[in-house]
Amino acid sequence: MNLRRTKITAVSHYLPERRVTNKDFEKTLDTSDQWIFDRTGIRERRFVEKGVGTSSLAAIATKQLLERRGIKAGELDLIIVGTVTPDMFFPSTACLVQEKIGAKNAWGFDLSGACSGFLYALATGSQFIAAGTHKKVLVIGADVMTSIVDPEDRTTCVLFGDGAGVVLLEPAEDGEKGIIDFILKADGSGGQFLYMPGGGRLNPASAETVKKKMHFVHQDGKNVFKYAVRGMAEVSHEILEKNAIPPDSVRLYVPHQANLRIIQAAVDRMKIDPARVAINIDKFANTTAATIPICLSEAAENKTLKKGDLVVLASFGAGFTWGSVLLSWEM
Ligand SMILES: CC(C)(COP(=O)(O)OP(=O)(O)OC[C@H]1O[C@@H](n2cnc3c(N)ncnc32)[C@H](O)[C@@H]1OP(=O)(O)O)[C@@H](O)C(=O)NCCC(=O)NCCS
Repeated sequence: MNLRRTKITAVSHYLPERRVTNKDFEKTLDTSDQWIFDRTGIRERRFVEKGVGTSSLAAIATKQLLERRGIKAGELDLIIVGTVTPDMFFPSTACLVQEKIGAKNAWGFDLSGACSGFLYALATGSQFIAAGTHKKVLVIGADVMTSIVDPEDRTTCVLFGDGAGVVLLEPAEDGEKGIIDFILKADGSGGQFLYMPGGGRLNPASAETVKKKMHFVHQDGKNVFKYAVRGMAEVSHEILEKNAIPPDSVRLYVPHQANLRIIQAAVDRMKIDPARVAINIDKFANTTAATIPICLSEAAENKTLKKGDLVVLASFGAGFTWGSVLLSWEM
């Protein structure tokens, strides 16, 4: 089969207004601004107001994207939403977004890849363009992590924020490279280190599961840290080696924003100039599936990227899931 090349033609993001600083946590938890910043690189994050769901953040980001691209929602063929905080089990967040933006001709589905959800969704969406069956595919990474972190658990609640990012995929023109390669991985043996036990088939919601805090994120931070450092650094290095790209040819490295020290380890391993690394963890913390498209959207707004620039995306998250995407910026 003759596969078509796929490119990103528009990008956007949305973050809720409410800013929560590390100092704000000092009022309710045994923690400090210094501890959080030194261990993670986070200074503040955004939280939704009560009652605001993931689909709402995604829909706001998407409406802006459609305006930027100058197309109508009815032109979209497919909506893929990477998220671990869907508004509900069903209907899918993709269906809720479709309704909110009026994308009447699109089908869609949610994809559960945790912090790698956006990269998994990007690779998946690009296959529909490559096969020639779809022309406009929306790939969303969005999470409302405040809905699943225990506000009394200082080891997790300070790490996360809420947000949404979105890109549009379309066929590349002749001579454009667009998405060049991706490497995606999973290792289910890592599931025990980062998970949410409640709410699914094994532990359906009950007074007992709520009492036992089973509907919150459970994390062995030290182990996640160790695997994340290795996984993200190795896969980023691997995609450059595989495509014979010298590190100094990369214009922008966009790592998942979970911990500044994990990012720095990957940057050291890749021997990439730290000035070419997208970092916004200080402002938004870990928004799970949204971190990478938010970084891309900020880079586009700041005009950091020009047509033909090489970009490497990399992620690591629950599952474990991890991966990297190499692309040529064609906007
Ligand atoms: C969570 C993380 C920041 C903790 O940093 P760390 O340097 O490993 O810290 P530790 O877990 O060893 O904890 C050290 C101490 O600080 C305490 N601590 C944890 N959170 C704290 C907080 N918010 N404020 C103050 N102290 C805190 C711990 O209880 C521990 O105390 P103890 O020694 O008395 O038991 C770090 O492990 C991490 O970032 N892990 C990866 C998380 C991640 O990326 N998750 C998303 C996956 S994509």
